[in-house]
Amino acid sequence: MPIRIPRGWELPESAATPEHLVLGRRKALGLGGLIAAGAALPWQGARAQQAASPMAAMRNPAFRPERALTPEKDATSYNNYYEFGSSKNVASAAARLPQRPWTLKLEGMVDNPQELGLDDLLKKVSLEERVLRHRCVEAWAMTVPWTGFPMAELLKLAGPQSGAKFVEFHTVADRGTMPGLRQSWYPWPYVEGCTLAEAANELCFMAVGLYGKPVPPQNGGPIRVLFPWKYGFKSGKAITTIRFTDKRPVSFWEQLQPTEYGFWANVNPEVPHPRWSQAHERLLGSNERVPTKLFNGYGEYVASLYAGLEKEKLYL
Ligand code: MTE
Repeated sequence: MPIRIPRGWELPESAATPEHLVLGRRKALGLGGLIAAGAALPWQGARAQQAASPMAAMRNPAFRPERALTPEKDATSYNNYYEFGSSKNVASAAARLPQRPWTLKLEGMVDNPQELGLDDLLKKVSLEERVLRHRCVEAWAMTVPWTGFPMAELLKLAGPQSGAKFVEFHTVADRGTMPGLRQSWYPWPYVEGCTLAEAANELCFMAVGLYGKPVPPQNGGPIRVLFPWKYGFKSGKAITTIRFTDKRPVSFWEQLQPTEYGFWANVNPEVPHPRWSQAHERLLGSNERVPTKLFNGYGEYVASLYAGLEKEKLYL
């Protein structure tokens, strides 16, 4: 007899939100009335009740972390951001990167190319909080609350043309504040990419907040992309341009070391990095070592994206 395993977003009926509250929630999301209507929602996270913060938003209960939250001080003080150097301790240097004004360009093979001021963009999208696991290719991991909106909302704004098959995420390269850019052997700017189908997946998220506050510069403020099912290097920080194209992008790490870092980079504990095992990960904060899961535990959302692509190096 086939067994049906409930998926992460299928809440037990007892936890379901009554329809009138859901409809009210859609209105309450958006920057203006973020919290006002939310106080009584049964599933609402504690963070969402803090109306004082500009980036607090209601927690989407579909994204169950299944792990303790990483302490904020650990997630914001142990970072990879090569534009500011190769140490993990880049927070004070990154603080010099201006966070406003900030514009995001949508360009390439789209019907509506445009340049959006970040604050104008935030008026057009519905913000929500998602607690997501992040797995770095170096085998450390964190679980943190991001505020943002699905990348699919940007696809709607841009209107990709039928020939567009891939999406490039270009990140800022600011010579005035980023000493790493003087290291000319790196192929700056840091560009990452994915397929259009991956960008449209509901798990692909544009983050503007972290722990209910604007994303701090060292974590990719003012806006970064998140691919929670891929190794963390795919999640580019400080995005300036999103470009739609018919050519598969060759991204920053792939240009540098194609035998170690590929285009797909989906998390898989059974496919080791050429120089180390990917079977386990170390949790920031506790330093506990836990087993890594296929697609970082998000297979229910994304596994179907890769049907028929088995010949690709999906896990590098
Ligand atoms: N984005 C840019 N622009 N520059 C980088 O060096 N590092 C990547 C990714 N995005 C990186 C980047 C890597 S290797 C990881 S693991 C994550 O950012 C780290 O994100 P965090 O510092 O918020 O934990």
